[in-house]
Amino acid sequence: MGKIVTCTVHKGGTGKTTLSVALACYAVKQGLSVAIVDLDSQCNATKQFIALDQVGECLTASDLFDMTDLQTKTVCFVPHKKGDIEPDNVLHDSLDNAVKHRFSVIPANDVLLSVERLPIESASIFSKNLRSLSEYFDLVVCDTPPTKGFGMLAPLMASDYAFSPINPDAFSSDGVASLFEKIRAIKEEKNKKLEFLGLVINRLNTHSPLQKQVANYMKEQLGNNVISQVIAERSAISNSAFSRRPVWYQARSGSTRIAAKEIKNTMKILLDKMEMNEA
Ligand SMILES: Nc1ncnc2c1ncn2[C@@H]1O[C@H](COP(=O)(O)OP(=O)(O)O)[C@@H](O)[C@H]1O
Ligand SMILES: [Mg+2]
Repeated sequence: MGKIVTCTVHKGGTGKTTLSVALACYAVKQGLSVAIVDLDSQCNATKQFIALDQVGECLTASDLFDMTDLQTKTVCFVPHKKGDIEPDNVLHDSLDNAVKHRFSVIPANDVLLSVERLPIESASIFSKNLRSLSEYFDLVVCDTPPTKGFGMLAPLMASDYAFSPINPDAFSSDGVASLFEKIRAIKEEKNKKLEFLGLVINRLNTHSPLQKQVANYMKEQLGNNVISQVIAERSAISNSAFSRRPVWYQARSGSTRIAAKEIKNTMKILLDKMEMNEA
């Protein structure tokens, strides 16, 4: 059975999708078999790998809230060359062939908007399905919406691990206490095995002494709850979302190389903390 990790924080724009996508790509590059589950109806993670009209009848994240047998649907697999995922070349195949393809996208769609109105049992159905899905992969990465509803709760109920990107600005630290409280409550009431890997300080403005101070203060105050590698705000990272290739792909310029190093170091730390070594 593979491990499940959820990237979550109830705030938009902090880097959830960027880091979920980077973790999935990095893990594939390390030889692991990976599924990324996109729980945000904005479909940003999905669109990094497949065009929405390529989904067809394949399994979607919203299906996980009401399906009883995952085997009844095909899933979207995306091929990769030398570990680099090649967007848009979607294959539809059965879950039994997950080992062969090694990278699957469980896409988001508009139906996710209505899961917030489902009864609470649906979150349990979702977590059961997520666990079944994890039997076919080494790692399942869940990207979540910026809200505190089902899209956040349901994956955390089934996850082994969670991590949260945070920006070192004036408002983000306000949300840390409520994030920790939410994780603590889920761990206590719903999922004892959930382990928090840490906050990832992302989008640090390296020209801002104040932001550097905030980042250092977070590290000092929160100790092991902060991942030691900080990721700076760099155009190479936002550009990589446009090109739909990881930032380390053909990284030539100095600043792209630094961005690639920061992202890869962070992903390595996360995989090490999950005790996931190369396949
Ligand atoms: N370290 C970074 N440097 C530059 N741009 C970033 C960085 N991290 C994220 N971004 C950009 O910021 C925007 C929001 O990031 P995203 O991952 O979509 O956040 P979320 O999923 O939490 O809403 C995106 O345009 C993304 O490309
Ligand atoms: Mg997002």
